Amino acid sequence: MSSSEVYTASTTAPVNIAVIKYWGKRDPKLNLPTNSSLSVTLAQSDLRTHTTASCSPSYPPQDSLLLNGSEQDVSGPRTQACFRELRALRKQLEDANPELPKLSSLPLKIVSENNFPTAAGLASSAAGFAALVRAIANLYELPSSPTDLSRIARQGSGSACRSLFGGYVGWEQGSAADGSDSVAFQVAPASHWPQMRALILVVSAAKKGVSSTTGMQTTVATSSLFPARANETVPRRMKEMISAIENRDFEAFGKLTMMDSNSFHATCLDTYPPIFYLNDVSRAAIKVVEAINKKAGRIVAAYTFDAGPNAVVYYLEEREKEVAGLFKAVLGEKDGWQGERGERVQRDAEGLEHIR
Ligand code: ADP
Ligand code: DP6
Ligand code: CO
Repeated sequence: MSSSEVYTASTTAPVNIAVIKYWGKRDPKLNLPTNSSLSVTLAQSDLRTHTTASCSPSYPPQDSLLLNGSEQDVSGPRTQACFRELRALRKQLEDANPELPKLSSLPLKIVSENNFPTAAGLASSAAGFAALVRAIANLYELPSSPTDLSRIARQGSGSACRSLFGGYVGWEQGSAADGSDSVAFQVAPASHWPQMRALILVVSAAKKGVSSTTGMQTTVATSSLFPARANETVPRRMKEMISAIENRDFEAFGKLTMMDSNSFHATCLDTYPPIFYLNDVSRAAIKVVEAINKKAGRIVAAYTFDAGPNAVVYYLEEREKEVAGLFKAVLGEKDGWQGERGERVQRDAEGLEHIR
């Protein structure tokens, strides 16, 4: 290899929005969860991370990560774990094939862009670490499966393990002490239920006050509601959610989605000091969904909120007018409105205020 040679690979990864939420770590070091979770990968939406990984003997000796143009600290244990594991896999390849360039010993330069708000409860850490891990795996030409990559991405950010698969994706909490069985798996491809749509209401693009990592650790430490959620409610709902998806039963899917979001935010409120991710606009969005369902006489729309105020509303294409149409009417035809699938409304507070 010449001293100025630059090796490079790029990839993109979509966000995923959980319908059964991950919230709680049983092992913060390995990033192992207290409960399994399930999400929908929003591959059709325009919420994506684009990441380029490169390495070169000509780079400064330190690994680096540029996110949306600003230099990030890569010394944290989570990013380090991803780099270390991927390098070890590359090293195995190099040891087995001495003619391969020794990329594992070169500094890494990662350049990443999120085309949606970062750290605002729209799963930037999920798309971000999924893209980071896959970009480096591509750079190193690793033969790793999505399952293997999900095991590594999980250590960057738990939710990231699910963004390595499309469609309806579970994350099995696992029981092995080393985390080897705590990986994502595909419940069904998107084509199993192609009518599914997600409306994303960007209530606020601001960075959340309490990061997911900190928030869930405080919840585990202080909430008395939490053990029942993690040990009883979620295990039951995981099974029910998988059946709902298998049977394409939107009523069951929608009800479980909304109840699990409410349960998660209830444990946040039960945390001490309390964590408030929802705001008045979020609650107004919940009321709109409730009104839509009341009018329809059944559940045709389901809201869910991650660790932030932004709403994601799942519905089926056949209910486009009632669901997206109503939000559109309420909010007006805004610039941010786009796409047939994974529609997006970019709107500030007043948009929903007047329908409260
Ligand atoms: P979110 O709700 O957006 O997932 P989190 O609090 O879980 O918020 O995580 C936000 C953090 O994830 C960011 O501060 C950053 O450290 C990391 N992150 C976000 N996007 C990327 C990316 N594209 N590449 C690497 N890390 C990222
Ligand atoms: C509410 O995966 O962001 O979005 O593992 O600490 O990085 P870390 O947390 P993260 O937590 C996501 C929490 C959630 C629910 C979910 O995505 O399942
Ligand atoms: Co996150």
